[in-house]
Amino acid sequence: MISRQKMVFGNWKMNLNKNEAEILSKEINEGINASDVKVVVFPSFPYYDHVATIAQRFSVGVQNFYPTENGAFTGEVSVNQVKNLGAEFALVGHSERRSIFNETHSFLKKKVDAAINFGITPVFCCGEPFDIRNASEEYTYVLKQLEESLFHLDNKTIQQCIIAYEPVWAIGTGLTATIDQAEEMHSTIRKWIAEHYNQECADTISILYGGSCNAANAKELFSCPNVDGGLIGGASLKSDSFLSIIHSF
Ligand code: 13P
Repeated sequence: MISRQKMVFGNWKMNLNKNEAEILSKEINEGINASDVKVVVFPSFPYYDHVATIAQRFSVGVQNFYPTENGAFTGEVSVNQVKNLGAEFALVGHSERRSIFNETHSFLKKKVDAAINFGITPVFCCGEPFDIRNASEEYTYVLKQLEESLFHLDNKTIQQCIIAYEPVWAIGTGLTATIDQAEEMHSTIRKWIAEHYNQECADTISILYGGSCNAANAKELFSCPNVDGGLIGGASLKSDSFLSIIHSF
């Protein structure tokens, strides 16, 4: 079980070459000055091992995996292979995987189950696109994502997950959710967990915010009572901004 705590995660997406990943990892190692913040970075697959050997004061996770153990899946990396590499965390349900790679609710449910079975913490990403928020349907939309792919877990297992609320309209756009928008969605997700499970589960699960979170707005976002930290894209690619976000609590 990973209990609720302050977290800053860096999703490097398909960025950085080996040398850049090495330099950034070393700078993060040297710059972290917050022992109470859990820091995890998610590099591109080819550099996972290299980053993991450098990582001392942060953990390393995977951006993706295929939810079966082996077989004829050319180009994929299996759940047990990432476990074998030492991954403790895996992103599941990122909006780019949903929209570009057509990952469906039922496929994401399989990924959640596979991660749990292999002792990997799923960082389950959810969030609505712009047209859905414009139509005031963001709560129905996010609840469906959770119900279809995550809320089948039992009381104990759900506590092994982390949730990341990433409104799609805020990802890579420079548009950030206001603190009211973030807090409302995060507190609602926590209320849904309490309703589906119990208050203990709701109090245990960390809920991160993602979407144009940066050094300038992290402090305000992290001050929301139900925002436990951030899942950072662009601003995690430079050590000064990423470290400044880590030190925003
Ligand atoms: P940005 O921080 O670049 O908006 O990306 C957020 C994200 O998608 C993290 O997973």
